[in-house]
Amino acid sequence: MCGIVGYTGPRQALPQILEGLRRLEYRGYDSSGVAVLDGAGELHTAKKAGELANLEKYIDSGVVALEGTTGMGHTRWATHGGPTDRNAHPHTDATGRTAVIHNGIIENFPVLRAELERAGVELASDTDTEVVAHLLGAAFATGPTAGDLPASMAATCRRLEGAFTLVATHADVPDMLVAARRNSPLVIGVGEGEMFVASDVAAFITHTREAVELGQDQLVVITPDSYEVTSFLAGSSATTDFRPFHVDWDLAAAEKGGHQFFMDKEIQEQPAAVEDTLRGHFDGTRIVLDEQRLGDDELRTIDKVFVVACGTAFHSGLVAKYAIEHWTRLPVEVELASEFRYRDPVLDRDTLVVAISQSGETADTLEAVRHARRQRARVLAVCNTNGSQIPRESDAVLYTHAGPEVGVASTKCFLAQVTANYLVGLALAQARGTKYPDEVAREFTTLLEMPAAIADTLTRMDPVRELGREIAQSKAVLFLGRHVGFPVALEGALKLKELAYMHAEGFAAGELKHGPIALIEEGLPVVVVTPSPRSMPLLHSKLLSNIREIQARGARTIVIGEEGDDTIAPFADVLIELPRVPSLLQPLVATVPLQVLAAEIARTRGYNIDKPRNLAKSVTVE
Ligand code: F6R
Repeated sequence: MCGIVGYTGPRQALPQILEGLRRLEYRGYDSSGVAVLDGAGELHTAKKAGELANLEKYIDSGVVALEGTTGMGHTRWATHGGPTDRNAHPHTDATGRTAVIHNGIIENFPVLRAELERAGVELASDTDTEVVAHLLGAAFATGPTAGDLPASMAATCRRLEGAFTLVATHADVPDMLVAARRNSPLVIGVGEGEMFVASDVAAFITHTREAVELGQDQLVVITPDSYEVTSFLAGSSATTDFRPFHVDWDLAAAEKGGHQFFMDKEIQEQPAAVEDTLRGHFDGTRIVLDEQRLGDDELRTIDKVFVVACGTAFHSGLVAKYAIEHWTRLPVEVELASEFRYRDPVLDRDTLVVAISQSGETADTLEAVRHARRQRARVLAVCNTNGSQIPRESDAVLYTHAGPEVGVASTKCFLAQVTANYLVGLALAQARGTKYPDEVAREFTTLLEMPAAIADTLTRMDPVRELGREIAQSKAVLFLGRHVGFPVALEGALKLKELAYMHAEGFAAGELKHGPIALIEEGLPVVVVTPSPRSMPLLHSKLLSNIREIQARGARTIVIGEEGDDTIAPFADVLIELPRVPSLLQPLVATVPLQVLAAEIARTRGYNIDKPRNLAKSVTVE
């Protein structure tokens, strides 16, 4: 994530850029910056860590002149390098005349950085973006693309791997911005004698509703009166493969990508959250973590794993238990962070504590991390917020790249956490040798197929929304599952409680007969997460019996099952089909209908699903 905006036209650029950044702050808010070209061929930049307000205060103090009619701005969600002034965008080359802003992750940046360092370039930040500024500056200075900013940008982009939206400017080239995109969003705003580029139409919607969505691997050159789209792949040929469109949303909807709530948008962003979390974590032969201050030697000595987390993150940890035990043969305990340190858990140097937190600030999880480290255990953080406290205090970090989650109830971060936990399991299996390298590679390849499966699941959600409206006035809803379906059931129940203020419980389906079955009464909706009959025939048949038991007692059975599973259809009052995926990975698709169901019930009951009552996004008190 990260928000980017560029402007060129007759007006002063700075106010347009700051207005755009305010609207894009939901995409990241750990630092921000601007670059403006003045009329005298000079480039001026200003950047500050923290919220956009810090940058505005800095600019208002008048320390830097930012007058000019062409410029660009960035609001950052840190990936490479902590959230500091020096890591804030824009980044410039050594001459200070080329400036670049970036959204995405450049996977081959270590190679490019090493190459620049060998050539004597001094890098001023820890970011992957800065290498682009140096490469672009060099391409513009000498060689076949010298003096040609679009050609220099195309040549630079061809050297990059990963995901990027880039916007660049050069002090020698007035009234022009060059932007490019691969795997990250970029739209052009076409105004009257002025042009915008941005990661989202929200940035320019008060100025123009005429927009152009760029295609993959495209480059656009904007001047006040024109835009020209080409492909940056070899040849940089002109292309017509882009999509002009008219924005008919209002401003409020535009910030949410046309959705009613941020959470609706975040549910749709889940394929990207999973894809981005996997990105760059397999180098062709091995799983690599982000900041692995724990060597393979240390991982090899681990004899026990504790997963600590709260709420939704805890449920992702419950999924992790199945995967890590299966792949590594290590015993895994999953513990609520708030309970962990008060019960004197048995920890030593050979224990790995995996602390999962979206915010990286949750007090219970942070205290659990501190307790574990005092006991000399190794701590690996799985976190969505770069530079936050939990990763800072941990021995190693694996970031989930879900981008900022605005809705208080966690959705895309849950799927990203589940994904990251699979990577932790594979990294441990590889270090301990419980999986051969080709097996690890195969599992990773299967994970790479999951974003498409999640996207497929999202296309099947109309009947779920219809069901949500139908059962919105129920007194309660129960959720059942077995194996990895059990944490999914718990997560479905939590989403419904927090969004719709409805009584909801999740149970391991086998436990039903030991008490909870007494809750079943005529018409009670019971959601059952069913495993695949192909890969888990035994569990599947047990679950089928559980469904029969509750149906016989009057429950309304809502069955989430694999497509093509004919055996469940007769016992399902409502059947929601999922694409076929490996059983261990099923939570990545099975959770989606439960999120959509909870959101639709809450919407029908008239609640603000982004801000459920009594809750806060980061819980920084114990
Ligand atoms: C529920 C939810 C919470 C969080 C929990 C932990 O939808 O969002 O249960 O999962 O408060 O928060 P983090 O992950 O920030 O530590």
